[in-house]
This record gives sequence, C-alpha cells and structure tokens, in this order.
Amino acid sequence: MLPAAVLERVDRDLLSFPGAGLSALEINHRTDAYRSIAEATEAGIRRLAQIPPSYRVLFLPGGASLQFAMLPMNLLPAKKTADYIDTGAWSQNAIEEASKLGTVHIAASTSSASVAHLPRPDDLNLTPDAAYVHMTSNNTDVGTQWKTTPVVGDAPLVCDATSDIFCDAVDLQRYALIYASAQKNLGLAGVTLVIIREDLLDRSSPLLPKMLSYRVHADFKSLFNTPPIFPVYVLGLMIDWLLERGGLEAIGVVNARKAARLYTEIDRTGFYQGLAQPNSRSTMNVTFRLHQPDLEQRFIARASDEGLDGLAGHPTVGGIRASIYNACPEEAVDALAQFMCEFERTAG
Ligand SMILES: Cc1ncc(COP(=O)(O)O)c(C=O)c1O
Repeated sequence: MLPAAVLERVDRDLLSFPGAGLSALEINHRTDAYRSIAEATEAGIRRLAQIPPSYRVLFLPGGASLQFAMLPMNLLPAKKTADYIDTGAWSQNAIEEASKLGTVHIAASTSSASVAHLPRPDDLNLTPDAAYVHMTSNNTDVGTQWKTTPVVGDAPLVCDATSDIFCDAVDLQRYALIYASAQKNLGLAGVTLVIIREDLLDRSSPLLPKMLSYRVHADFKSLFNTPPIFPVYVLGLMIDWLLERGGLEAIGVVNARKAARLYTEIDRTGFYQGLAQPNSRSTMNVTFRLHQPDLEQRFIARASDEGLDGLAGHPTVGGIRASIYNACPEEAVDALAQFMCEFERTAG
C-alpha cells in the first residue's frame, strides 16, 4: 500500500513535476530535477534514521534478491566464512546464493521449526573472525521479527530489512550494512535501499563487474547507470511522509498498536491459531491458521467480499497472513479485527 498523501502527490506530479516542465515519469537522471530528488531523499533518510556520515546511502536496482548475491561477491573474500542466521524462506534464499560464491556457516537455524520463532541470543554459534553475519530482521513468510539486534561481536552485521525497514526506531550503528527492496515500506518495486558502512567499500574487488560493485555505485553516487528514477522519487515521498508523521518512534507506536489489535483477536478464544511464537511475532506480517483448510478458504473469500484483500498466506506456509506495513491505516486493521470476530461468531 501507499499512503493516500503520497498517492495525492504522485497524482499532482504525474502531469507536471514542479519546476521541471514535464511529468515525474519523464525526468532524466542527469538533470537538476533528479539530482534534487535524489539528494533530498538521501537527506531525509539520514535524518529519519540518524545515519552518521561514516555510512553511504545507495539506491540500487535488482531488488533484495540481487543483494543476496552482491553481498558475498563484495564482502566475502576467499578463505573467509560468512555466518548466516536461517530464520525463513528469505534467509534461505540469501544462504543459497552466498553458498555458490564462498564459504557459509549457518550460525543458527529455526526455519524448519514446527512453531515459527527466532533464535535466542545464546543459540548463535558464530565463526570467530567471520567476514560478516547475515540476518533477516522480519520473516515475511512465517511472520516472525527480531525484537532485539543479535550480538555478534566484532563481525559486521548485515541485515535484510526488506519487510520491516523503518517500521520502528533503529540503532543503525549496530549494523554494518542494511538492505531493503522498496516495495513494502518504501514505496515501489524497482529500487533497493542499501545503507553501508564506508569502510566495507574497500572490500569490493576491482575485478567485479562494475554493476555488481558497492564501491562503483558509491563512487558514482548511485548514478553509475540510469537509476530507477520514479521509484526513487516515490521513496523520497515515503520518507517525507514518515518524517511528517513524527519519525520512526512515532510510526513504531502505531505499528505496535495495529499488530496488538490483531494478535489480541487471535488469542481471544483459540478459534484462530497464531503461527509465530508470541515473543517472535511480527508487527508487519501477522500470520495465523484456522482449524480446517476449507475454513481458511471461506475466511479469505468472505473477507474479500468485505473489501479485505490479500489475506492468503505465503505460498510455502499457507494459512492467513495480514501484511500491515507502515502505510496500512489503523482503520483497515480495525476492520479486519472486526471481521475476524464476526467470522468466528457466524462460521465457528
Ligand atoms: C525479507 C525479504 N527479503 C527479500 C525479498 C526479495 O525481494 P525482491 O523480490 O525485491 O528481490 C523479499 C520479498 O518479499 C522479502 O520479504
């Protein structure tokens, strides 16, 4: 979803982008108009997440899926090991790609647990002197989310934050690299935000294809090739919207309230069963089941009749999944909670 305020701005700028004399869809990347969009977007991101100058902010193509490969290509030298924390389908995709490119050690694995949960801090079996440790902050498929940042010693901590970036306050300096595709909390598919500690750029070998090198993208200020201009522009609008709403702590309060509304409904009687252990529950993807698969199908169909769409679980998990990203309004969550109550009363 996109916030209504963002859609209204897009609607205005689609015909005529102020000062540029053309549509926001027509802006060339070598113009002042794009330069000011990209600079304002980066400045907004830095203000929102209090990013110090020792980090670079990159706007890259290729989605988080490209980061699964770019990361080991750039940061995992031969003879070193990268630690991965396996907590669901997306971390497994990251592991699969990294394993083709270097030595990977699984520091903990909960992805095949019968009840979805995250490892405890003392479950992590870390490699001394690892090239980096990779985590997935929110597991979009099963609906689990780290509540605290894992402690990994001196190893650079790398985080796939595609499905929960900027959902709450973040202590950015605990991470060496954070990446996120934009299509969940940052607007449109097509741009991936990468926030990387500057010293890591030294690891990018000059032998890498240029498009796959963090160093090259940083040196060219994300203009090595034609960037995804329109998604960067919408990303900027999403950041402005977050700043106008009071920043990350404020959105974190709203997100906690939205998620609590649904988990309270899930826990009320036992008619619904939450998929994730309570201490690992996600504020972004609320996952649950009903007693029988046919009841789940009826739930999804009736919800759709009421205008509540997109509730089928991830294909590999099944059940129900309510994705309540930053832009999902509280009224929509209230409507779902009321529907759940009513469905239980009439179908249970
Ligand atoms: C946690 C996570 N990582 C990575 C991805 C893959 O993103 P993309 O399709 O942009 O490559 C997704 C997509 O849903 C995701 O949820």
